[in-house]
Amino acid sequence: MIHLYYSDMLVENITDLVGNTPLIRLERINRNLYGKLEAVNPGGSIKDRAALQIIRDAYNSNRLNRGQPVIEMTSGNMGAGLAFVCRHFGNPFIAVMPLGNSPERLKILKAMGTEVVLTDQVDGEPGMVTGKDIEYATEIAKEIAEKRNGFYVDQFYNPSSVRAHFNTTGVEIFKDMPDIDVFISAVGSGGTFIGVSRYLKSKKTSVKCIAVEPEKAAILKTGRVTNSRHIIQGTGYCRIPPHWEPDLADDIITVTDGEVADMTKKLTKDMGLYVGYSSGANVAAARKYISGSDREEKIVVILFDTAYKYSDI
Ligand SMILES: Cc1ncc(COP(=O)(O)O)c(C=O)c1O
Repeated sequence: MIHLYYSDMLVENITDLVGNTPLIRLERINRNLYGKLEAVNPGGSIKDRAALQIIRDAYNSNRLNRGQPVIEMTSGNMGAGLAFVCRHFGNPFIAVMPLGNSPERLKILKAMGTEVVLTDQVDGEPGMVTGKDIEYATEIAKEIAEKRNGFYVDQFYNPSSVRAHFNTTGVEIFKDMPDIDVFISAVGSGGTFIGVSRYLKSKKTSVKCIAVEPEKAAILKTGRVTNSRHIIQGTGYCRIPPHWEPDLADDIITVTDGEVADMTKKLTKDMGLYVGYSSGANVAAARKYISGSDREEKIVVILFDTAYKYSDI
């Protein structure tokens, strides 16, 4: 259960710092609840894992060569991951990002030498990037990839994303907590939920895997969207992820913006965990799950990213 961290590690390069993140007990919420703290990845989020796997797989299958541009539509976290991974492998990186993402994300990308193309929002607003906003940015990214003979990452469709979480995140969770009963995670591309759930269920069929969605954009749970705007950035895009496997989700819990904002604040104020809204969403969903359960169960949630990337946390 105890991880040994960087103080006893000599690492060769930044990619060695991706993954092997800690599970932290969220005692102030519930003593059986643990958060996998992905903010400690070098790019500040869980997307570093997918970025590294995608670029490695692209090199290994000769779809990407040294010096060739890499292009992706990103809400920021995948961009930060790709920015340092591309630096390491020697590929220029072009990020296409909807304007509604926080200025902090733009600053990080630029600092790492990324060429950033900002796209207009279709129906979102600053701090709320919708599915339509990312569809529009995706079209622009594809055009740029075509024109510049680049490698288009395609995080929603790229199977390396799911593979990253099957091979690393899921393995780490099960190694640290073989007695896990419940896994809870919000869904963006679905890479995290699908990869981790597949791995955990392959090891222990009784593990319950629970997805989290914004209450008014619960397309996976209800098939309906009444309002596509919400604060859980990086998730809840009002579309079914391409690799979605309905049978992996034993349940889907919905959360409101108010619940998410309160829990995100609580994690910071009460526990010093300065994490983003999707982390707060997962913990808020866990609290709902616990309040409706009469059993003592070991629960793991994903704490996706650091709040340093947000203007309003
Ligand atoms: C802050 C944040 N939370 C959650 C997610 C969802 O992760 P996934 O794409 O693996 O479903 C993302 C993805 O970009 C994200 O940026």
